[in-house]
Amino acid sequence: MDDVELIKEKINIVDLISEYLTLKKAGVNFKAPCPFHNEKTPSFVVSPERQIWHCFGCQKGGDLFTFLMEKEGMEFKEALEMLAKKAGVVLQKKADDKKDFKDRLFEINLKAQEFFHYILTKHPLGKKALNYLQERGILTEIIEEFGIGYAPNSWESLTRFLLKRGFTHQEIISSGLGVASKSGSYDRFRGRITFPLIDAKGNLRGFSGRVLMPAEPKYINTPQTPIFDKGNFLFGLNLAKGEIRNKKEVVLVEGEMDMIASYQAGFKNVVASKGTALTEGQIDMLKKFTENLSLGFDMDLAGDSACRRGIEIADKAGLNIQVVQLEGGKDAAEVIKSDPAIWQKAISGAVPIYDYYLTSIAKRYDSKKPSDLRKIGEELIPVWAKITDDLVRERYIQRLASFLKTDEKILRVAVEKARTASPKSYAPLLQTTKTADNVVPVKGRRELLEEYLIALLLHPPQESDFVPGFPETLFLAEKWRQLYVLLVLYLDSISFKSTAFNINDFVSTLPSELTVEVDRLYLMELDERFSEDKHWKKELEGVISELKKALIKASLEKLSLEIKNAQEFDKMDTVESLNKRFRDLSVKLKNL
Ligand code: UTP
Ligand code: MN
Repeated sequence: MDDVELIKEKINIVDLISEYLTLKKAGVNFKAPCPFHNEKTPSFVVSPERQIWHCFGCQKGGDLFTFLMEKEGMEFKEALEMLAKKAGVVLQKKADDKKDFKDRLFEINLKAQEFFHYILTKHPLGKKALNYLQERGILTEIIEEFGIGYAPNSWESLTRFLLKRGFTHQEIISSGLGVASKSGSYDRFRGRITFPLIDAKGNLRGFSGRVLMPAEPKYINTPQTPIFDKGNFLFGLNLAKGEIRNKKEVVLVEGEMDMIASYQAGFKNVVASKGTALTEGQIDMLKKFTENLSLGFDMDLAGDSACRRGIEIADKAGLNIQVVQLEGGKDAAEVIKSDPAIWQKAISGAVPIYDYYLTSIAKRYDSKKPSDLRKIGEELIPVWAKITDDLVRERYIQRLASFLKTDEKILRVAVEKARTASPKSYAPLLQTTKTADNVVPVKGRRELLEEYLIALLLHPPQESDFVPGFPETLFLAEKWRQLYVLLVLYLDSISFKSTAFNINDFVSTLPSELTVEVDRLYLMELDERFSEDKHWKKELEGVISELKKALIKASLEKLSLEIKNAQEFDKMDTVESLNKRFRDLSVKLKNL
C-alpha cells in the first residue's frame, strides 16, 4: 500500500470535511452547500462509501487530498504532508514517475505507428486499404509523409506485437491503443486505415482510424489519455504551420481526408478540426501562427449551433473569420478530387463570416413574409449580439437593417437586449450551473442522456442480476463505451457468482481516468422509485430507446443531405442505394 492509500485508510473523509462544513446526512451520503461556489440549495455531496466528494453545481470533486488543495489552496505535496501528519503516517520518498509514464505512452505510439505503417505499405493484409487510398487519389509520397497505416481486422494483432516488445497491458490500455478486457486488453483499432495524430511539435499523441466499408462510426479516435485530448488537437498543424505563416492565413477543414487532399493539391496552409466545434485550446494554437481563419466546413454553418459556438470563441479571440463556400462537392476532399481549381477559387473567394450569414439568410428566407422575418430575427440577432467589436457589430446591424428594410434603431435595441440577456438554459437533466469564476459548459441532451444511462446502470436495485445487452456503440463518448464494456464484464461476473453489486469492487477494476467519472455519476441522486426493479428497468429501457432513436435520426439527417448532394450531381446509382438505406432506417425507427 502506498502513502496515499494508507492515509485514506486512516482518515475518514466525512470527519475531515466536517472540520470545514456542516454536513447533513442524505441517504447513504452527506450534503452541504458547496464551499467552492455560491448556492442556496446544497449540491455538495460526500460519500463515506467511496471516500469522495463532488459538487453537482460547480462540478468540482475528488478525494480528501483534492478537498484540501481546493479549500486551503495547497499543492498536492503540502496536502499530503499535512494529512500524513494527521494520520500518523511516515512518508516514503517517492520518485516522480509521472514523466516517465508519459514517455512510455509516446514510445508505445511510435511502436504502433511502425506496425500500422508496415502493414499498409508492405504486408498483404494492407492491400485492400492501399487500394482504397489509391482510389481516393492519395499518392504514395503523401502516405509516407503523413505516415498513414492500416490496423488489421483482428482483436489482438497489435496487442501481441506490443507485448512482445515489452509493453504491458496497462500501458496498451492507457495509451488508448487497447481496450481493457478479461484477458488483459484487445485492439481498439481493427480493420481501419490509421492516421497518426501528431501535434505541432511533432509528437505522436494518438491515432484516428477510418473504416474501409461504409459502417458506423466512420472514424474512431484515441480516447482522452494523459497525452491526447481531441479538443486541444488540430490535425496537420505539424506540416501546415510554415505555410500558414507564409500565407498569413489558415484554412480549417473538418476531416483528415480534407486536410490531406488539400495539402496534396498544393494548398498547404490547412488543418482539420476532426469534426468537433472549435475550442479555445485550438484557437490559441492557431493564433500563434495567424489571425486570419477561413472555415472550409462541409455543412450549412448558419444551421449548426456547434459550429457557431466555435465561431463565437474565435470572434472573441479577435480572429478574422471568413467562410469558404463550397461548390461541386460536399467537402474539401470531394471538391479537390473533382477539380483542384475549384478549391483554389473557393479559398481565394472566402467571404467574411457575417456576410456569409446574410447571404445564407437571403437564400433560405423571404424577408417579405412576416413569419420568415421572425425566423431571421431569431437566427441572426443572437449571432449579431455575440460580435465583440463595437464597430463591426454596428456595421452589420446597419447591413441587416437595410437587407430587411427595417428601422436600424429597432434592430439595435433588439441586439442590445440579446447582449445583456442571460444565456438560454437547456433544461439540463443533471444540474449544471454557472458561477462567476467557474463556467461549466452546458452539455447537450445526448451527452446528458448517456451520462444518465451510466448513472442508472451504476445503481442496480438490490437482488438485480440484470446484464445489459445493447452494443457499446450506443454511446458516442468513447469513455462511456470503455466504461460500459467494463461494467458489463463486471455485472456478468457477479451475476455468475450471485454476489451483490459493490461499487468499490467495480471501481477497483477501472483505469484511473474512468474512476473519476464513475464517482461523479455514482453520486448522482436518482429517483427513489428506481430502487424497485420494475421501475428501474422501465427507465433503462426508455433511455436506451431514446438514445437509439437519436442515433437513427442523426443518420437519417446525414443521409438526406447525402441524397440531396448525389441528386445535384446526377449520381443516380448512389441516390438509389442511399434511398434504400434511408427507407430501411426509417422502418427501424418506426419499430423502436
Ligand atoms: P465526416 O463524417 O464529414 O467524414 O466527419 P469525412 O471527413 O468526410 O470522411 P471521409 O472523407 O469520408 O473519409 C468529419 C471528421 O469528423 C471526425 C473525423 O475526423 C472526420 O474526418 N469524425 C467523424 C470522428 O471523429 N468520428 C466519426 O464517427 C465521424
Ligand atoms: Mn469527406
